[in-house]
Parts: sequence; structure tokens; C-alpha cells
Amino acid sequence: MRRKANCTINLLFVTTIFFSYLASGAEKTVKDGVFTEAQVSSGQVVYDAQCKTCHNMRFYRDTLRSWNNQPLLYLWESIMGTMPADNPGSLMFEEYTNVIAYILSENGFPTGDMKLDPDNGMGDIAIVAP
Ligand code: HEC
Repeated sequence: MRRKANCTINLLFVTTIFFSYLASGAEKTVKDGVFTEAQVSSGQVVYDAQCKTCHNMRFYRDTLRSWNNQPLLYLWESIMGTMPADNPGSLMFEEYTNVIAYILSENGFPTGDMKLDPDNGMGDIAIVAP
């Protein structure tokens, strides 16, 4: 009898933890479909014109690895502040955002319904190593 009561209490406890975890708005990662198909295709155009001459995709893969666990917003800020190296900050905010979507897509991360937006939640999306 006593044993059974304990089990029920444990189950309640676990359920409560689980739902508070969901309610807390758990952090997303780049695996969660955080950019759209349209951003990827726009990003490819920018990438081909502005980013391809100096780095290959292998370089971006290594960059994502070294940024593992960092918020995606930090990478966006870093790229915006320093790239293209011959003309930093020369692109529009949206172009930087789309380039990141393209780079993530080329590294195997999925598209989704959510639009990647530096003003909205990008600080809560963690980079994971491809
Ligand atoms: C004129 C050459 C050139 C162009 C064009 C260029 N880069 Fe770079 N990029 C560099 C150099 C040089 C570095 C720093 C040295 C290195 O790490 O190879 C760098 C570093 C980087 C890094 C590493 C940053 C870090 O902190 O880990 C990223 C990411 C990056 N570039 C992205 C881009 C993107 C995106 C574009 C297009 C918008 C771009 N680059 C265009 C030359 C260039």
C-alpha cells in the first residue's frame, strides 16, 4: 500500500517538472527549424556574391564547430562587424541573416516555419556543431 502511494507521488513530481520545463520556453538550437527555405535561397545569392571568394564551406563548418553552444546572435554580430573582410558591415541586416541561414542549411540543419530574425529570439538559439 505504502509503496504504491510513493509511486504516485513520484509520478506527479516528474510530471510537474516536465511541464514546468516546457513552460519555461526551453532554449532552441539550430537543429529546430529556425530559418525558412526562402531565407536559404536569398542567402545563397548573397553568399555567392560576397562570401565565397575568401572561404569555402569547410571553413564555415569549422567556424560552427568552434562556436558550439554559443548563441546564434553572437555569430551574426561577429560576421556583421567583420565581414566581408574587404568591406565590413556593407550588407543589409537581412542579408547577413540570410547568409547565416544558407550556411546552416549547407551544413545539414533543417529549414522550418520560423523566420530567423536578429530582433526576435536569435539570442536564444544555440549553435551546435554540425
Ligand atoms: C576579402 C576576403 C573575405 C571575404 C569576402 C569574406 N571574408 Fe570572412 N574572413 C576573412 C578573413 C581574412 C577572416 C579571418 C581570418 C580567418 O579566420 O581565416 C575571416 C573570418 C570569417 C569568419 C570567422 C569568424 C569567427 O569569429 O570565427 C566567418 C564566420 C566569416 N569570415 C564569414 C564570412 C561571411 C559570411 C562572408 C560574406 C558576407 C565573408 N566572411 C566574406 C576574409 C573574408
